[in-house]
Amino acid sequence: MPRFDNQTVLVTGGTGGQGSSHVRAFHAEGANVVIGDIDAERGAALADELGTRARFARLDVTDESSWSAAVLAAESAFGALNVLVNNAGVQNPPATIENTEQATWSRILDINLTGTFLGIKTAAPALRRAAGGAIVNVASTMGLGGTAHYAPYVASKWAVRGLTQTAALELGRDHIRVNTIHPGVIATSFILEPAAGAVAAIADFYSPEPFAIPRLGEPTDVSRLLLFLTSSDASFITGSEYVIDGGLLLGPALQAETV
Ligand SMILES: NC(=O)c1ccc[n+]([C@@H]2O[C@H](COP(=O)([O-])OP(=O)(O)OC[C@H]3O[C@@H](n4cnc5c(N)ncnc54)[C@H](O)[C@@H]3O)[C@@H](O)[C@H]2O)c1
Repeated sequence: MPRFDNQTVLVTGGTGGQGSSHVRAFHAEGANVVIGDIDAERGAALADELGTRARFARLDVTDESSWSAAVLAAESAFGALNVLVNNAGVQNPPATIENTEQATWSRILDINLTGTFLGIKTAAPALRRAAGGAIVNVASTMGLGGTAHYAPYVASKWAVRGLTQTAALELGRDHIRVNTIHPGVIATSFILEPAAGAVAAIADFYSPEPFAIPRLGEPTDVSRLLLFLTSSDASFITGSEYVIDGGLLLGPALQAETV
């Protein structure tokens, strides 16, 4: 039996490179899916393609009323909400801290951190009404260390970790599990195209060649981890962090000819 039959899953940033892969993966496993995103055109197209077990909800994660509407849409269409994936996220145009405008700092924190906070806040009562469920917050390997020129992004992803652990403690007794994932470099427009206000894309200067698994990650790599973490197979896992980076954080894998 598909793992997510009769389950309803809301994915934020659900039309993006990773989000759309997650939506398709949950749908293929039997879930009803709610695609939350600011991109109405892509959202409506994906919902149309997937058919009766899919809905698009125009969701700006920085706006609490927009969250309430998305959660209500999930419950009205499918009867309950069981899983939330806080996946929406944006990167800052690269700049040192000294050269970062406060408006940029606030925009990145608003989407990546406040958006995740509002998601947990708004979805928790619905997950409780469903007698429990799972939340996964998408951070980044950049949330595990420092990265020059990415202070707003790094800080937002570090903070998501503390939010996850706190939510796990607050919601565990209600059978709601909350975990973080840390993708490495995943082949989406996030790295293949310049961030708003940036000149170069990360993929222009990043090569996976030195690392243990010498390729970019695919969105489906991340989707498979997500499915595991939100399934009953992971019923004893909460407050945890999962790195999915092909060995990036291990550093370069020295090859015989170079040592
Ligand atoms: N691609 C990578 O290498 C990588 C690595 C680590 C972490 N991540 C994280 O993975 C997540 C998904 O990124 P992706 O690679 O799919 O990028 P993407 O740019 O393809 O997708 C991001 C999605 O978020 C949506 N979005 C932006 N602002 C929003 C808002 N205010 N409300 C709702 N939706 C909004 C966009 O419309 C888009 O669909 C992000 O949180 C990102 O920080 C990405």
